[in-house]
Amino acid sequence: MRFIGNFSSGKMGFSIAEELASQGAQVILVSGPTSLSTQNQNIKRIDVVSAREMYEASLRAFPSCDGGIMTAAVADFTPVTTENTKVKRGKENYTIELTPTKDIAASLGNIKTINQFLVGFALETNDEETNAKLKLEKKNLDFVVLNSLNDKGAGFQYDTNKITIINKRGECKKFGLKSKAEVAKDIVNELIAYYEE
Ligand code: CTP
Repeated sequence: MRFIGNFSSGKMGFSIAEELASQGAQVILVSGPTSLSTQNQNIKRIDVVSAREMYEASLRAFPSCDGGIMTAAVADFTPVTTENTKVKRGKENYTIELTPTKDIAASLGNIKTINQFLVGFALETNDEETNAKLKLEKKNLDFVVLNSLNDKGAGFQYDTNKITIINKRGECKKFGLKSKAEVAKDIVNELIAYYEE
């Protein structure tokens, strides 16, 4: 009845899955709750509800993949206990104890082989590029896609996004405001160009 969630629509992940599949890839899409559907037959969808389920499904899928693209806005904390019955009103103060979730991107970064790539997203509000580069290093990513919450039309609930892609060589490329389908193309094309070099 009640859960802790966020306003992420999943559109960025679905757009990237469609773009990869349209370029011939077999895609495994691990998706949290969303009303979106997939079009391309080359996308195998695994639906999950919790951060823990997403972690388990991602860790299971990753070893057989060429790489991973981590678009999900995974909750950083999860309730320690869940209620079996409705919590009635009337409590003076009601405290919910939270415990950290596992960092899926960092876990995949740990087990990543030399032949696999890993792309993460960084949603930042301040010191955007510095924080994004720190995330790239900390999670052992090859690319980080930076979204600034200061950019109008970027982030959750919009059909558009404005990104900067930073790779592990420290190269930084800024893109204009575009539809999420076009942003997905830019990300996939950057990846292809990087590995074709
Ligand atoms: N991510 C993940 N598992 C989590 C949290 C985040 O895999 N439990 C991934 C996201 O999918 C994204 C990247 O890590 O690719 C960065 O997510 P973000 O929310 O920007 O950063 P956090 O690592 O959660 O750090 P902070 O919230 O402190 O900025």
